[in-house]
Amino acid sequence: MTLLAFETSCDETSAAVVRAGEVLSSVVSSQIRLHAEYGGVVPELAVREHLRNLIPVAKSALREASVTSEQLEAVAATQGPGLPSALMVGLKAGQALAFSLRRPFLGIHHHEAHLYSPWITGTPPKADFAAFQPNVSLIVSGGHTMLVHVEGELEHRVLGSTVDDAAGECFDKAGKLIGLGYPAGPEIDRLAEQGNPEAFDFPRPLLNDSGDDFSFSGLKTSLRYFLRDHPHLLEDLQGVRDLCASVQAAIVEVLVKKTMRAARRLAVRCVTASGGVTCNRALRRDLTAACEREGYTLRLADKHLCTDNAAMIGILAERKFERGKAGSSLDEEIQPGWALA
Ligand code: KG4
Ligand code: ZN
Repeated sequence: MTLLAFETSCDETSAAVVRAGEVLSSVVSSQIRLHAEYGGVVPELAVREHLRNLIPVAKSALREASVTSEQLEAVAATQGPGLPSALMVGLKAGQALAFSLRRPFLGIHHHEAHLYSPWITGTPPKADFAAFQPNVSLIVSGGHTMLVHVEGELEHRVLGSTVDDAAGECFDKAGKLIGLGYPAGPEIDRLAEQGNPEAFDFPRPLLNDSGDDFSFSGLKTSLRYFLRDHPHLLEDLQGVRDLCASVQAAIVEVLVKKTMRAARRLAVRCVTASGGVTCNRALRRDLTAACEREGYTLRLADKHLCTDNAAMIGILAERKFERGKAGSSLDEEIQPGWALA
C-alpha cells in the first residue's frame, strides 16, 4: 500500500512515503539550530515551525516519491508520546488529509516505531522483516531511554526505562557543564575520540542493580562537583577531551552492560538499538564488540533513522495495516503521555 506518514512529536518536522516496506522518500526538517540558542527545545517555537514546515515537507516527500496525494492509500502520524501541541500538528493534519481523501488513518506510538527502525536497511531503505528475530531493543535519545523485549513482530514488553534523565539528556547536560553547545551529544562524541576514557572515574548508576531501569542524573551531578573542584581542566583542550571520553564511557558502559544482561536473561539471540544516542560511535563500537563476543546478532538503526523521522512511522503503520492490526482512527486525540505497554 502507498502510505504517507508524519512525525512531529518533538523538534523534527518529517514526512515520508512508503510502499511495500520500502521508504520511497523521507524528508526531515530539523529545528536543532533554532532551539540551540535556548539550550533546549522550546515548545512554542517547535509548534510554530511544525505549522510552517509541515505542508512544504509533505509536498517534498510526495514529489521525491513521485506519488500524488490521490494515489495515497493510507495516512499515518505519530500520536504520542511527545510535546502536546507539536503532536497535534502532525496528527490533525494527517487525519484531515485522510478524511478528505477518504482513506484510513492510523496514529502510531513513537517508541514502537523506534523499535522496528533497526530493521530498515539498504539503499533505498527497505524493511527487512523477513530477518526478524525476537530481540532486546535499546531505545536511547534525548527524551527516552528504555529496554524492551520484542518477543515477536508487533509484540513487545517494556523491561525498564530511566527513572530520571534520559541518556541523551545526560550527554546534553554534561556537555553544558563542560561548556559545549546544545545538543552536546555529537560534540562529546567528536571530542571523546581523542580523549582517554579512563582519565576520570565517573559513576555508573544502577549498573549493578538487577533490574532493567536506568538513572543518569547522578552522573551529571557528580560531573558538576568534579568540575567545581577541578575547574582548570576546562582550560585545556586535552582536559576537555578526557572529560568527554570519561563521561561518555560511563554512559556507554551502563547502556551496553544492561542491554547485554537483559538479552542473556531473556535468552534472545538478537539485540537492536535506535534513537539519537545510537549515533554515538563508542556505543556502536562497544555494542558491536559485546554482541560479537557473545555470538548475538546486532541491528543498529542506520544513522539517519536514529533521530526522529517519519520513515519509521510509515513503515510500522503499513505493517500494522497489512497485519490487520489497524483500524482507522480519524477522531482519535493525541496521547502526549502514552506509555509503551
Ligand atoms: O532521537 P533524537 O533526535 O530526539 C529525541 O530526543 O527524541 O535524539 C537527540 C539526542 C540528543 O540528546 C543528542 O545529544 C543525542 O541524541 N545524540 C548523541 C549523538 N547524536 C545525537 N549523543 C551522543 N553521541 C552522538 N553522536
Ligand atoms: Zn524519538
